[in-house]
Amino acid sequence: MAAQKMISIKTGEEIKVLREGGKRLAGILAEVVEAAKEGVSTLELDRLAESLIFKSGGTPSFKGYRLKETKIPYPGSLCVSVNAEVVHSIPRADKILKEGDVVGLDIGMQYPGKWQKADGKWRDGLFTDMAVTVGIGKISKEAERLIKATKEALDSGIYAVRPGAHVGDIGYAVQKHLEKNKLGIIRDLAGHGVGYEVHEEPFIPNYGKAGQGPELKEGMVLAIEPMATLGDWRVELQDDEWTFRTADGSMSAHFEHTVAVTDKGVEVITLP
Ligand code: MF3
Ligand code: CO
Repeated sequence: MAAQKMISIKTGEEIKVLREGGKRLAGILAEVVEAAKEGVSTLELDRLAESLIFKSGGTPSFKGYRLKETKIPYPGSLCVSVNAEVVHSIPRADKILKEGDVVGLDIGMQYPGKWQKADGKWRDGLFTDMAVTVGIGKISKEAERLIKATKEALDSGIYAVRPGAHVGDIGYAVQKHLEKNKLGIIRDLAGHGVGYEVHEEPFIPNYGKAGQGPELKEGMVLAIEPMATLGDWRVELQDDEWTFRTADGSMSAHFEHTVAVTDKGVEVITLP
């Protein structure tokens, strides 16, 4: 039998810290959403996000992050992915939002810098991760449909979480909802464990079979993040080595919450 990769279990004390960080992160993202208007550059949103993170006593977890050894470190504190960009788009001064755009805003924070446990030991802050997709001004009916169904798919995935359920139950729930809405389901990117690091085990695909994959246990902390398109699921990595775009140019949406598996079910950590 193949060895099962380790999924970390957070203590009650750590969940408390994550809850505080998640609450602050949700407040920050709400302010960034308010600022996402026609005429604003994606870099301005990144600057705002970063200053709000520091003001909250946290550190931007995306800044300097590497996905692979060979990759350039991510230069921003926020990912701002517009229209056919699926995720991880780097903020730019010359990228100005316009009416009709569909904008994914993805943010992560380590909070607090250092904190003292009940036993007196000091340790590093914990990571939360979340994303929303919003329209700029008036958007098309199709874009509205895409955003609504992707958000609902996240909710379905969250409802599948409880001790004794499996990672495949999350993917199954997300997939079912996106397929019902005839949307493309991104397959190359997925949700993940989170808390001690930006990305931890398990890998959480947005498709799956009920009852399959690792079993969920109390104290696991997961980032669930459906990504859907109005067209095909295939994506292409751009020359900046970060931005994923749909290969067919179709519009895409992304929503993400950090959640904790509790004794009875699930708690959404990234709520204001
Ligand atoms: N929320 C994104 C993810 O889980 C975070 C990204 S990587 C970064 O993939 F470098 F952009 F931070
Ligand atoms: Co994530």
